[in-house]
Amino acid sequence: MIDVNHSVKLAQDFMVYKMSSKSSAGHGIHSPLVYSFARDVVHKKERDRYIDEIEWYRDWQIQSPLLIKKSHHGAGSKLPYNEMPIGRLIRSSSVSSKHGVFLYRLAKWLDAKQILELGTSVGISTMYLSGAQPHAKIVSLEGDRERALLAKHSFDYMECNNIEVIEGDFDITLSTALCRLPVLDMVFFDGNHSAEPTLKYFKRCLGHIHTNTAFVFDDIRWSNEMFRTWQVIANHSSVSVSIDLFSLGVVLFRKDIPKQHFVINF
Ligand SMILES: C[S@@+](CC[C@H](N)C(=O)[O-])C[C@H]1O[C@@H](n2cnc3c(N)ncnc32)[C@H](O)[C@@H]1O
Repeated sequence: MIDVNHSVKLAQDFMVYKMSSKSSAGHGIHSPLVYSFARDVVHKKERDRYIDEIEWYRDWQIQSPLLIKKSHHGAGSKLPYNEMPIGRLIRSSSVSSKHGVFLYRLAKWLDAKQILELGTSVGISTMYLSGAQPHAKIVSLEGDRERALLAKHSFDYMECNNIEVIEGDFDITLSTALCRLPVLDMVFFDGNHSAEPTLKYFKRCLGHIHTNTAFVFDDIRWSNEMFRTWQVIANHSSVSVSIDLFSLGVVLFRKDIPKQHFVINF
């Protein structure tokens, strides 16, 4: 069911965000690191062949008549269906092209070699990460068996050979993933959009970071609770830089720069 109050608040928040956000084209970003992030990750224009291939595949999948069941994991979808065509699932819960390209550029900017994703679904975001860093080790966690199988099928088809999907609830599979990836260069949190699990998984991953690690949180304005959780994470003592991109939030752990919060136009 669509929550009208939340939609109105989201529209108001978007206006505030747009008015306070900075762009790499202007002179508002005084940190060289965050300026480079804005220019090379958020606002970069060139696309490469791999991005076009993933998007061709994504468009092809969207046409598929295959029906897929609702996942029983996480905070759940806001859509009122128990079963839906795969195209609708991709449109409603996989990363958009804009966010996928963002993940692609961020993985390249970090030169990430060990990447963890919480929430594979049918594998769209994972393919952007794999395409960006074909020699990285990528572990992606998914609780829904049907989605995990579809994702693995897509990875085989697209020759994304560096992804391991671990099936099961994050409460169990996160420990296995962290044994496989003892040092994390990048984590994409896109599974459970509720407060307590997000904080729990954030804290578990903190034990595996280094000074150049980045964590990305999807849907930080999915609900008021998620936005408060994002604020707790951004204010955490281990975080040095937090970046609000409206629906995505990014935190960095650089030890050589003072704590700062940025709002960047995306
Ligand atoms: C938003 S979708 C992920 C979309 C994917 N990252 C993409 O952009 O293509 C979230 C996925 O996380 C899974 N999930 C949520 N909570 C989970 C949990 N506690 N354990 C395992 N999987 C979970 C759901 O089954 C769902 O497929």
